[in-house]
Amino acid sequence: MKPSVYAGTFDPITNGHVDIIKRAASIFDRVYVAVAESTSKQVMFPIEQRVEMVKDAIADANLGGAIVVEPFSGLLVDYARRINVQVIIRGLRAVSDYEYEAQMAHINRHLDESMETVFLVTSKQCAFISSSIVKNVAANGGDVSGLVPTMAAKRLSGK
Ligand code: COA
Repeated sequence: MKPSVYAGTFDPITNGHVDIIKRAASIFDRVYVAVAESTSKQVMFPIEQRVEMVKDAIADANLGGAIVVEPFSGLLVDYARRINVQVIIRGLRAVSDYEYEAQMAHINRHLDESMETVFLVTSKQCAFISSSIVKNVAANGGDVSGLVPTMAAKRLSGK
């Protein structure tokens, strides 16, 4: 059984993240979606709500229970080791993502040399989406449906 982990802040989860999770689930037997409890980012949603929005967004794709959503804290490699995972999934949207992603892949391998990072290129309709841009659109009264899953869109408009 080959499991993988897809980690992020998911503040909130976007359709771009969902695209990566579903595609990872078609390659790996199990995908752990790890929601970072503490992050250097100023978050809009508390950890419980970020986890809940991820669970809701992938519910239709997870009838077999192969996608496990849970919070994590500390180093990603430590969490991955605890759940016995050696593959980290990352999404690449554009060339501009590469430098940061390469740095993360290197540091994770420096911390644990058994850890491999696998990159999936984001589907083109999601290539321009980020959590910050979606929050900015919502904060200015714009329509975020089509950019984020339903529960995230409701929560954003509630804010
Ligand atoms: N579709 C849409 N948006 C995407 C995306 C995709 N496929 N891939 C990334 N993004 C967006 C995210 O929404 C996020 O947007 P934002 O900056 O507007 O919030 C941005 O790209 C960066 O996302 P990501 O790389 O997932 O960063 P993150 O801050 O959400 O998560 C962690 C980073 C949690 C994975 C990383 O900090 C970590 O591993 N932390 C644990 C501590 C650790 O191990 N540190 C050492 C290694 S860095």
